[in-house]
Amino acid sequence: MTRAQIIGTGSYAPEKVMTNADMAKLVDTTDEWIVDRTGIKERRVAAEGEVTSDMAVKAAVRALEMANTRADELDMIIVGTISPDMPMPACAAFVAHKLGAKKAFAFDVSAACAGSLFGMSIASQYIQTGAVKRALVIGVELLTRIIDWEDRNTCVLFGDAAGAMVLGPSADPNRGILSTHLHTEGALTDILCIKGGGSKYPMNAEALKQKLHKVSMNGREVFKFAVRSLTDAVNEALVHNQITADEVTHLIAHQANLRIIDAVIGRLKIAREKAWLNIEKYGNTSSASLPTTLDEANRAGRLKPNDTIAMMAIGAGMSWGSALVRW
Ligand code: UT7
Repeated sequence: MTRAQIIGTGSYAPEKVMTNADMAKLVDTTDEWIVDRTGIKERRVAAEGEVTSDMAVKAAVRALEMANTRADELDMIIVGTISPDMPMPACAAFVAHKLGAKKAFAFDVSAACAGSLFGMSIASQYIQTGAVKRALVIGVELLTRIIDWEDRNTCVLFGDAAGAMVLGPSADPNRGILSTHLHTEGALTDILCIKGGGSKYPMNAEALKQKLHKVSMNGREVFKFAVRSLTDAVNEALVHNQITADEVTHLIAHQANLRIIDAVIGRLKIAREKAWLNIEKYGNTSSASLPTTLDEANRAGRLKPNDTIAMMAIGAGMSWGSALVRW
């Protein structure tokens, strides 16, 4: 079987930094509370006029460069996002046009913080069948425009960023994406959502007044579910590939909360130094966080051929999963 391999990574974060001290000027919070409860020290905020596809393109250009691939060689573009340029058409269409990816079909995946993992899984299947030779998978979010800046439960958590991966067929059958396992629990749609703007609560003056167009979250419920389901998903990947936690070289995790990552690696008995962390600098960047973290580890020269990388992500839906990659 031809496996898909990640042959290029790229990331981008806007220049503007917002520290916890800046947040404390907006809502009743403190640097101490945010660091203790989440591990976040600062986050990035997109510039005025900058849109989601602009950020995606910046990360994509870097990934394409590393993959030695021209945009017009791409067959497929998948963008994981819940904060696209517009509700319609897909953010991926804007990205394809801006990149000049004339040949590629392009669409968005809505799996919130798990969007880039879901996208990677889809692209991997297309490459395995031979239907696609070059795929671009992006996780991008401009969350600072859809969070409620008066809600301290959510606004301190999120930031803007983009991460990208170029996938192609692996020349070595033992290397590449070994497995992906994806899950959804639709009974929990209400613990993390944006209620307004769809068919249930169309956008009107009343919906706007109630801030239904903003992210709402029951953090405690999301936290508990995340620890359980991410632990199970990574275990599922290990069992499926007959690999022990000790054999994992790196853990690339969605950066939602440092305490979630710590709780999961504690249960899995994966050493802390194997987990790549950047939540301190960027906060929770939803679907961007996994590819951004991967790119940082990659560009630091820490991912060696044949290293075993476990990935995990979870987001609204609830949607979650894991992947195991032999680099
Ligand atoms: O990306 C995937 C989706 N998102 C997540 O994975 C997030 C998952 N959840 C979490 O990360 C955590 O639940 C939070 C960081 C959101 C909250 O941490 P927590 O330890 O679960 O706190 P809590 O919600 O239980 O709140 C504890 C207290 C509350 O006060 P009372 O009711 O105990 O008096 C909150 O009102 O902390 C209060 N609080 C704050 N205090 C200062 C909530 N937000 C803040 C804040 N600053 N920003």
